[in-house]
Amino acid sequence: MFNEIQDNNCYKNLLNGKWVTSDSEKTISIKSPIDDKEVGNIQAMTKEEVDIAVLDAKNAYPIWADKSVSERADVIHKAASILEENADEIAEILAKEIAKDIKSAKSEVIRTVDFMRFTADEGKRIQGETLQGDGFHGFSKNKIAFVTREPLGVVLAISPFNYPVNLSASKIAPALMAGNSVVFKPPTQGSISALHLARVFQEAGLPDGVLNTITGKGSEIGDYIITNPNINLINFTGSSEVGKHISEITSMVPMIMELGGKDAAIVLEDAELDHAATNIVKGAFSYSGQRCTALKRVLVLENIADELVELIVEQVSKLQVGNPFDNATITPLINNKAANFVQELIDDALNKNATLKIGNKREKNLLYPTVFDNVTTDMRIAWEEPFGPVLPIIRVKSIDEAVDIANDSEYGLQSSIFTNDIDDAFHIARLLEVGTVQINNKTERGPDHFPFLGVKSSGMGTQGIRYSIEAMSRPKAIVVNLRERSDKVTDK
Ligand code: NAP
Ligand code: G3P
Repeated sequence: MFNEIQDNNCYKNLLNGKWVTSDSEKTISIKSPIDDKEVGNIQAMTKEEVDIAVLDAKNAYPIWADKSVSERADVIHKAASILEENADEIAEILAKEIAKDIKSAKSEVIRTVDFMRFTADEGKRIQGETLQGDGFHGFSKNKIAFVTREPLGVVLAISPFNYPVNLSASKIAPALMAGNSVVFKPPTQGSISALHLARVFQEAGLPDGVLNTITGKGSEIGDYIITNPNINLINFTGSSEVGKHISEITSMVPMIMELGGKDAAIVLEDAELDHAATNIVKGAFSYSGQRCTALKRVLVLENIADELVELIVEQVSKLQVGNPFDNATITPLINNKAANFVQELIDDALNKNATLKIGNKREKNLLYPTVFDNVTTDMRIAWEEPFGPVLPIIRVKSIDEAVDIANDSEYGLQSSIFTNDIDDAFHIARLLEVGTVQINNKTERGPDHFPFLGVKSSGMGTQGIRYSIEAMSRPKAIVVNLRERSDKVTDK
């Protein structure tokens, strides 16, 4: 079913129901981070083609918006089944393209299948309401608002490299369920997996033009896409830097943004340390730390720090490092630039006398898992998001100090608290300036119907299946003003 999306490993774009190459005749070679071998080529689209993609979506929007909710749900359900049938093939491409271990690549695809099914069902349950005017002085019960939910129009979906299938579908499926058409800009590294996803939606029977793809480097055509006047909402996941840039150069366009994080694990004196260490290691190092919700710092009370550090280091020493197809947890980072950045943070910590417990070994873009103890707040690693396999441990004297350091961050995605005292857990949770607090668990997004949001530089708006459908639609009120008929109709 994926034949028509490429010729000789050169991938095309979906425009108005057809898979087409770009008039630019320019392609971008996508190389695997594993061995630098070419996975395929994608089109570098022109500005004119960007305009065409958006216009196609605009023209197709009324047809899709007019479909019944159950017709839209049927298409999403069908797409979920097609994705499920092709899960192994797509997971393999994903593993090659972004060096995600094959088991996690497969679970990304299957999680997406579940996501799409839940979205199709949840979309059917979203209803409007009626409101009566007499709750306000001067208005009567004869003023009645019929409030329905309406789509917004054309949604621009932009996703990052680390979940090119899941974080694309988690925008596209709720946008479609709400009745919008979609222009989809996948991450350049991740485009090939994402174009397979687009084909899945098309095969499921989406009318021509309802979903259109744009490939090309964000640094070259990104600004042009986001400032297209026919875009009615931007749903972006990626770095805080690009997110802020997008919000600076657009005007009056609603946005949902999922951005960077610096999630902290706060470990209290009464925590079960084995459990905390297991969660911290999984949270920090899965997919080599390239997750927005990765645990990116540990704040531990001084008198349990030695024990916790030893438990963490012991588990980190057992992490498998290497090839995603051997199911290693620690795999090559997305590119050399990313590895260089992580190395800079490691070097800065070493120069400022953090205690290296394990790691700081590198083979090109493959960085071994690295743990630093005695990290202090003058070190870059205490504050910056590495998006790589390095974990700083900061020793604190009190819960108050832990909360202060946790909150003294530009980010506010999630935090974990490890303790056996539910009162302490709730007290601290209330103080933390983040979207979600996990008690006795690593930070993580799922399950995907929970609300997912970041505060400060970690994002704006709320995702999560129902929240996403609501965020990509709007209420519309039709107000009926009944005439007074008390002379003619009497209550019996
Ligand atoms: P990124 O560099 O910000 O890129 C994200 C997406 O934006 C890509 O599709 C990219 O295209 C595109 N882009 C770049 N410049 C653009 C512009 N000027 N206009 C429009 N689009 C533009 O992020 P990344 O490296 O892919 O992902 C890692 C970051 O994402 C981390 O900071 C991570 O924390 C964050 N993230 C957050 C969440 C969350 O839910 N909060 C989830 C996952 C990741 P190209 O690929 O062509 O450059
Ligand atoms: O970084 C992507 C975000 O969606 C995280 O999902 O499951 O890795 O917490 P998860």
